[in-house]
Amino acid sequence: MSAETPLLKVTDLAVHFRRRGGLPPLRAVDGVSLDVMPGETVGLVGESGSGKTTIGRAILGLDRPVAGSIRFDDRDITDATPSERRRLSTELQVVFQDPYSSLDPRRTVYQTLSEPLIVHQRMSKSESAAQVATALERVGLPHNAASNYPAAFSGGQRQRIAIARALMLSPRVVICDEVASALDLSIQAQVLNLLRTLQAEFAIGYLFISHDIAVVRYMSHRIVVLYQGEVMEVGPASLITATPAHPYTRALLSAAPVPDPVRQARLRSEREKTIRSNVSIDEKGPGCPFAPRCPYALDICRSVRPELDIDPRGTTVACHRHLDLDLAHVGTAGAVPAAAQGDDVRRARLRTGRSRSEQQH
Ligand SMILES: Nc1ncnc2c1ncn2[C@@H]1O[C@H](COP(=O)(O)OP(=O)(O)OP(=O)(O)O)[C@@H](O)[C@H]1O
Ligand SMILES: [Mg+2]
Repeated sequence: MSAETPLLKVTDLAVHFRRRGGLPPLRAVDGVSLDVMPGETVGLVGESGSGKTTIGRAILGLDRPVAGSIRFDDRDITDATPSERRRLSTELQVVFQDPYSSLDPRRTVYQTLSEPLIVHQRMSKSESAAQVATALERVGLPHNAASNYPAAFSGGQRQRIAIARALMLSPRVVICDEVASALDLSIQAQVLNLLRTLQAEFAIGYLFISHDIAVVRYMSHRIVVLYQGEVMEVGPASLITATPAHPYTRALLSAAPVPDPVRQARLRSEREKTIRSNVSIDEKGPGCPFAPRCPYALDICRSVRPELDIDPRGTTVACHRHLDLDLAHVGTAGAVPAAAQGDDVRRARLRTGRSRSEQQH
């Protein structure tokens, strides 16, 4: 596989859910394409219900697509059999949001972390114990954590255990679904920085899912903005956040905290103008899904779905009006989420120097 070939390639993915009462199916994911290159973080951002988790679940084979394809390392895995999925689990892993429910409370950390080694690599107990110790060290937990049950750990520590479990077999892509959302701010920062350090060390590709654009901006090389199961805009994280071409991306950014309270107030009032009402996904018409909430919408926006098109400011955007709207210079590029500011970041930099992922940002 060449360096230019995506490790994970999702093309025109659609996932529908049946609904009761004679309603048409819910188009939770509606024609989404995205790629993750080796060692790259692709952020998937959008508000609650936009289909982020469903995309992750479809990639993992947990939700069945009605259309589209998913390729991993140039192999079609859209309809992978359970045994193919088991093999794939050595290369494609996931960390979910909730560190409380994602670990089995009846199993020690050693049992949880050694399972993939025993199942996939038929490792002996002493070999697996050594690997578990290394894995715990990698995520900043003491060796003796192995003999404890999840109840003995805090939320942040459990998330470290979940990350260690995902990395046991050295996967090439990890889907991170709201991995820091359930944690306190300072702990969030530690977990995000740990993921970045691990990526720099092991060249892991992340599909980094979050509703929080500040967190996504901090973590990602590229960002995919999702609205009602459709891609609104995609591009390098720096351009998506500095010169967003889609009114929805702009609205998401204006809701993210910025250090200047005056600018924050201005952005908030713009956001309030943009997000006029919370339109249900049931009402999706033939046009742009964002049109009912968009202050710039014209008739064409309500009747014709815009195709993704290259914007001169550098992103790719699905908006009929992207060439005549001046939405440039939100000016928050490079800002980090509140959670990631402060001592953790500075300490991590002193310890590791600039990480590879940081250099790419
Ligand atoms: N198993 C299911 N059956 C029916 N509807 C579902 C199912 N899973 C998800 N949905 C619906 O699909 C839509 C997308 O859900 P999804 O969980 O992917 O959103 P999300 O972007 O991850 O949201 P959040 O930020 O709240 O996690 C929502 O309207 C949700 O209610
Ligand atoms: Mg979700």
